[in-house]
Amino acid sequence: NDTIVNDYGNVRVTEDSEDRIALDAAFKADAIRQFERLRKKGPVHPVTLSSGLPGWLVVSYAAAREALTHPALGNHPAPAIATLEAAGYVTHHDDVNGGHMLASDPPNHTRLRRLVAGAFTTKRVQELRQRIEEIANSLIDSWPSSGQVDLVSEFTAPLPVTVIAELIGVPEHHRNEFRKLTGDALAVGTPQSEPAFMQLRALLTGLIDEKSKNPEDDLTSALIAARDDDDSRLSDQELLSMLQLLLIAGHETTVNLMGNAIMALMCHPDQLEILRNEPVLIASAAEEFLRYDSPLELSTLRFAAEDLKIGGTLIEKGSIVVVALASANRDVPVPGSGVPGTLDVTRKASRHLAFGHGIHHCLGAPLARLEFGVAMEILLRRLQHLELAVPYDEIDWISKGIMRGALKIPVRYR
Ligand code: HEM
Repeated sequence: NDTIVNDYGNVRVTEDSEDRIALDAAFKADAIRQFERLRKKGPVHPVTLSSGLPGWLVVSYAAAREALTHPALGNHPAPAIATLEAAGYVTHHDDVNGGHMLASDPPNHTRLRRLVAGAFTTKRVQELRQRIEEIANSLIDSWPSSGQVDLVSEFTAPLPVTVIAELIGVPEHHRNEFRKLTGDALAVGTPQSEPAFMQLRALLTGLIDEKSKNPEDDLTSALIAARDDDDSRLSDQELLSMLQLLLIAGHETTVNLMGNAIMALMCHPDQLEILRNEPVLIASAAEEFLRYDSPLELSTLRFAAEDLKIGGTLIEKGSIVVVALASANRDVPVPGSGVPGTLDVTRKASRHLAFGHGIHHCLGAPLARLEFGVAMEILLRRLQHLELAVPYDEIDWISKGIMRGALKIPVRYR
């Protein structure tokens, strides 16, 4: 039993399929070069997903935009489930894991997104600035004035999870447990992941219960109170599903945006120097880091509701499609005379697809940008010197799923 490539896990299957380009750990370890090789051959390729199922991988920028906006290429797996079951596969659909907006199509998607967008306002995000500064500073305060740390466990991971915990209103005494469970749950494929998900669900159910009785100024209370035009609200299950999505979508992605940026800077000391000299560039450089080493290497799955064409390739009804966001971002036209393969923190890399494109464009992008800008500014200001404490080749990267990021970033600093 393996989950389809999707980290947001909405379909499970048994069985194997034919021999195509395998999106396996070896491919992932060498993804940027593999994507480049595939782009030279064409925009769309048949692949075997890490679950063993057949699918299509979209690698060019133009075809990626086409796929992400195609009305018949949806996020709900129903068309694929029907095709898979007809072919003898056993599928499971989980209403909590699979009932949120990122696994929904209009009109359900429109309703869910509108309800959360109303509660997840720019004002609520901007109010977090000062807290993000406090959290980032307090993490660095807890280190010796010089030495060696793992930046993932001591900075990039605790920061976003604390922010999201406060945003949704997890009480102080539950934060450590919440942090631990989130970390375990997100380590998809490890033995602790499944039980951690269950415990996390119980914790979130308790939170919804508590906030229904005693609403406060937090996102969960706002979501409980949210109503759409027909005066209908989110069901308990939709709320749980929504909170779980916000937690998953908003956590590891942000961890990896910061981690990938720090890794890129340590490999490009000239670019690090530019940002140290001109910290005002950090906020806009977020776009270049998102483009250059995208935290979500692949999109979540898309499912063809009818026969259609992407990049001129026929995709049959019921097929699964994955968009290689990281590949499209190395194919995107960049301003000026630069090429997409190079890192340039001064360029305005606004056309990337790292936050997706179309109706599922990342809802948390303003929060991710804010967290990145604040955290990186503080990190670079407080650490005069930053270098990898191990050879680059010894860094372990995420080897499964749709994310891209280093598991540990040991650095020497002062
Ligand atoms: C959707 C990337 C941070 C919440 C997406 C998608 C991408 C993405 C690529 C679309 C996926 C697809 O179409 O298959 C990122 C990156 C982040 C980040 C790179 C950090 C650097 C966040 C944060 C939150 C968040 C902080 C919220 C707290 C969401 C939600 C969706 C989404 C709710 C689903 C939107 C929909 O289905 O309409 N994100 N994300 N994300 N993201 Fe983010």
